[in-house]
Amino acid sequence: MAQTTHDVIEQYDHYVMNTYVRSPLVLTKGKGSRVWDVEGHEYLDLFPGWGVSGLGHNHPWVARAVRGQVGRIIHVPNNYYHPLQAKVAKKLCEVSFDGKVFFSNSGAEAVETAVKLTRRWGAPAQPGVAGVPDGTGPAPHWYGAGGQYEIIVMEQSFHGRTMAALSATGQSKYQDGFEPLVPGFVRVPFNDLDAVRGALTPKTVAVLVEPIQGEGGVRVATDAFLAGLRQLCDEQRLLLIADEIQTGMGRTGKWFGYQHSGIEPDLLLLAKTLGGGFPIGAVVARRAVADVLTPGTHATTFGGSPLGCACILAVFEAIEQQELLERVNRLSRYAFKRLTALKARLPIIREVRGRGFMIGLELTVDGRPVVDACRQKRLLINCTQENVLRLLPAMTITKAQLNQGLSILENVLLELSH
Ligand SMILES: Cc1ncc(COP(=O)(O)O)c(C=O)c1O
Repeated sequence: MAQTTHDVIEQYDHYVMNTYVRSPLVLTKGKGSRVWDVEGHEYLDLFPGWGVSGLGHNHPWVARAVRGQVGRIIHVPNNYYHPLQAKVAKKLCEVSFDGKVFFSNSGAEAVETAVKLTRRWGAPAQPGVAGVPDGTGPAPHWYGAGGQYEIIVMEQSFHGRTMAALSATGQSKYQDGFEPLVPGFVRVPFNDLDAVRGALTPKTVAVLVEPIQGEGGVRVATDAFLAGLRQLCDEQRLLLIADEIQTGMGRTGKWFGYQHSGIEPDLLLLAKTLGGGFPIGAVVARRAVADVLTPGTHATTFGGSPLGCACILAVFEAIEQQELLERVNRLSRYAFKRLTALKARLPIIREVRGRGFMIGLELTVDGRPVVDACRQKRLLINCTQENVLRLLPAMTITKAQLNQGLSILENVLLELSH
């Protein structure tokens, strides 16, 4: 007998750890910006996959890549080579900056990699330790004085749930009860360059920033802040790490969020949309920085599998050949225009902000009932920080679907305002 929503939720309650706040929706199928529940109801999804399904659910090219690769080889361990990992790494560097790539399985693991990489970069040079210059090679221009391990992080930031990523996260609510945290993270207000300057110590090694804070409430880093961070990092010989796990791979209308500000980070962290639904992450590090990690210093069993890399290639092909960046720019301009007009009519909308297809509506009231009301009307959106509605539409969404979603949201907000 077919399972119902009730059956599935009952089994979850009994067997699945209760770590997520879940809506009572059992999804069994997805296509583009549409998903279907176990009872066959169709929903319009303006928050597909929590940012993972950036190309929409089951993009046909990603699905084709999975089928094709499964027919060849699913996994190749990292003590061997396979062509797709090389191809994807090259492509990632071509669209970001000249560097080298480490492949992870998730966003948090990309953050962990960045923490390890920066710690090693800031560690005292120890002749004889693998990768550390012993005086016979080129000058270790990329080493600091040694003993540098502090990373300056931003208030309201979110970097993941593993211990170092959690410790880097600038929101105590995620950390409560998990102390002791990993030491070495210094928190400063977002978009406040003076605060970053004031937090510098001889132990500082890097600054970690999201070009747009997603979980933190869709807060955009100003161009001046990112440019100032770049300059400060250059002056102080610190590493600038861009966490683009949510903003990356076209979501903001450019490949990466930092590209709007005309700067380049030293490390770029990716996951979510990168695999088009397949769990894979990556760290791109400037060449000299990347070289700090040498054989045996870092690894992950599943990292950069042929299957994951086939998915990334399909994502690249889709974004380029279907001109999805242009599409995000065009349709997001339209969405922002419509939402800004709505704000003028509805005082409960305090601010409309974001960039590209990363859209936040800060409300004067709790946003969670809005999410529930939208779901009743078969529209899926998200709320973060209690009062910020968050939309992360798929880059493939049609204008008609976008309009439909915005109309439902508009009606719900209008009803709530009365
Ligand atoms: C900016 C940012 N960094 C890191 C993470 C953690 O990624 P994951 O959940 O894949 O570990 C997230 C997830 O939401 C994120 O938005």
